[in-house]
Amino acid sequence: MKKNYRIAVLPGDGIGPEIMQEAVKVLTLVGELEGVTFTCEEGRIGGIAIDTDGTPLPEETVTLAKQADAVLLGAVGGPKWDQNPGHLRPETGLLGIRKALGLFANIRPATMHSSLVDASTLKPEVVSGVDLIVVRELTGGIYFGEKKRYDGPNGEVAEDQCIYHEAEVERIIRVGFDIARKRQKRLVSVDKANVLESSRLWRKVAERVAADYPDVELSHQLVDSCAMQLVREPKQFDVIVTENMFGDILSDQAAMLTGSIGMLSSASLAAGSFGLYEPVHGSAPDIAGKGIANPLATILSVAMMLRLSLGMDEAAAAVENAVWSVLEAGHRTGDIAADRSKAIGTIEMGQLVRDELSKQW
Ligand code: NAI
Ligand code: MG
Repeated sequence: MKKNYRIAVLPGDGIGPEIMQEAVKVLTLVGELEGVTFTCEEGRIGGIAIDTDGTPLPEETVTLAKQADAVLLGAVGGPKWDQNPGHLRPETGLLGIRKALGLFANIRPATMHSSLVDASTLKPEVVSGVDLIVVRELTGGIYFGEKKRYDGPNGEVAEDQCIYHEAEVERIIRVGFDIARKRQKRLVSVDKANVLESSRLWRKVAERVAADYPDVELSHQLVDSCAMQLVREPKQFDVIVTENMFGDILSDQAAMLTGSIGMLSSASLAAGSFGLYEPVHGSAPDIAGKGIANPLATILSVAMMLRLSLGMDEAAAAVENAVWSVLEAGHRTGDIAADRSKAIGTIEMGQLVRDELSKQW
């Protein structure tokens, strides 16, 4: 294991800087406890970069990210930039950095902590104990295929082409297997092989790659069936791997099993161990600057970074356990509090996680 890691930190807009501050403090503490140094270098992205540099993604930020071992991102956007033209919109910075870094795998965990079951719209007995991960292919499929619009004999015609290459499928399937191997060793590959040719290739590649992972149980599910099962009996899933559009939909569906947007972390991985880690939620302009945002999604993203990019599995589990312990003790930010009058702030929540981490280490 290395002794010094470079982390590019891109706080972004709205609550981004507030939640990122707490996440970086947790990372710094992990470094002290583990005896490694995390050199965190800050860069601008999104609205703040538009205001300062005249572009949502300055070249400097891309360089900073590329030189780092991993990237931590807060959130971008806000009403101030909503009327801007496309190239001067904060989200353009997000799309740009994902592309510049070659991120092809999006990892979205949905973990239902037992003390938060009330936040879900589903029955407690259905969601309690849910602990699954959706692995989504990010750079291929129908979202990136050729698009056409033309007039036909019976009115307008629209085309969206869906292409998958074997190598593209193989690398994402391998990410699915690698993650499943570190968990309950069950991988569900989701496709629509009864209808789509791209899905038949997907299934063939999954079967071939499975030979390299005899310790992981592979099964296949059709996407419509998977959508039903996710709501009917979500506990059956460990890791789901799927193509871009199916993954877009299923990852949002899986996320809402938990009901708490302020708790959801994510990772986007490139080849090798490089990745970008960010909360699923946005910049929450409605609560920005008030010190009440929930920092746990970003702190849990730090845990994912430790596990997936830095190979520090035990430290990752320690951060996650510290978060669960703080929740178990009844501490809540406003977004997950049953009684908002007892809610604590962003900084307090971050401090509680660090106290717990030191105690449990
Ligand atoms: P949002 O996720 O920012 O907020 C939705 C609701 O959840 C709001 O009521 C907000 O206060 C609450 N919320 C979100 N995160 C929270 C946290 N950590 N703690 C407590 N409450 C939290 O989504 P919204 O309102 O649709 O978008 C706001 C801005 O964020 C827009 O400019 C949008 O474009 C941008 N956005 C950025 C994303 C990113 O950077 N990856 C993703 C989604 C939206
Ligand atoms: Mg989506």
